[in-house]
Amino acid sequence: MPSVLIIGASRGIGLGFAEVYVTLGWKVHATTRTINNPGKLGIIAGDISLHELDVINADHINNLASKFEKQSIDLLIHNAGVYGTNMNSEAVININVEAPFNVINKLIRSVEVSDQKKVAILTSKMGSRNGGPTPSGLYGSSKAFLNDRYRETHPKWLEK
Ligand SMILES: NC(=O)c1ccc[n+]([C@@H]2O[C@H](COP(=O)([O-])OP(=O)(O)OC[C@H]3O[C@@H](n4cnc5c(N)ncnc54)[C@H](OP(=O)(O)O)[C@@H]3O)[C@@H](O)[C@H]2O)c1
Repeated sequence: MPSVLIIGASRGIGLGFAEVYVTLGWKVHATTRTINNPGKLGIIAGDISLHELDVINADHINNLASKFEKQSIDLLIHNAGVYGTNMNSEAVININVEAPFNVINKLIRSVEVSDQKKVAILTSKMGSRNGGPTPSGLYGSSKAFLNDRYRETHPKWLEK
């Protein structure tokens, strides 16, 4: 069966991805910042492995990448993100814009050797510059930067 690695699966949409892909029979790898207290993620029954990852922690990223040196990942979903209430702009940009590329670039070899070779990053209509609402506030701006960075640095990913 195919494999999926979900970055940021402790709750919300990421937790939903984990539940759905386990139900579909995929091999699921899911990350959480709270590996010792995984909550609902820890009670999902099926072929699921949990990994510790704070996306702004370089050691965590390297440790995760080392686990996948000899494993393929059919679908890598970077879901982790923050709305940024009560956070400064640098912290929000680090999590919503810098981290996805730091994480994906370290894991991309495992995706490239897989059958499906798919990467997904969760963005938002609030960051849209094309027909959607104007980028709104710090959160919308961060997602607009994310979209821009994706187009500029990985045009080939968009072709696939
Ligand atoms: N909900 C929406 O309507 C909506 C719409 C458009 C796009 N999105 C995007 O979809 C994604 C998920 O949204 P959501 O509503 O499910 O958000 P959420 O419920 O707030 O969950 C966010 C997830 O990201 C994780 N996370 C945050 N900072 C992290 C970090 N530094 N390192 C690792 N994990 C981190 C959280 O882990 P912790 O539990 O440890 O905090 C949590 O698992 C986000 O990228 C969001 O921008 C959401």
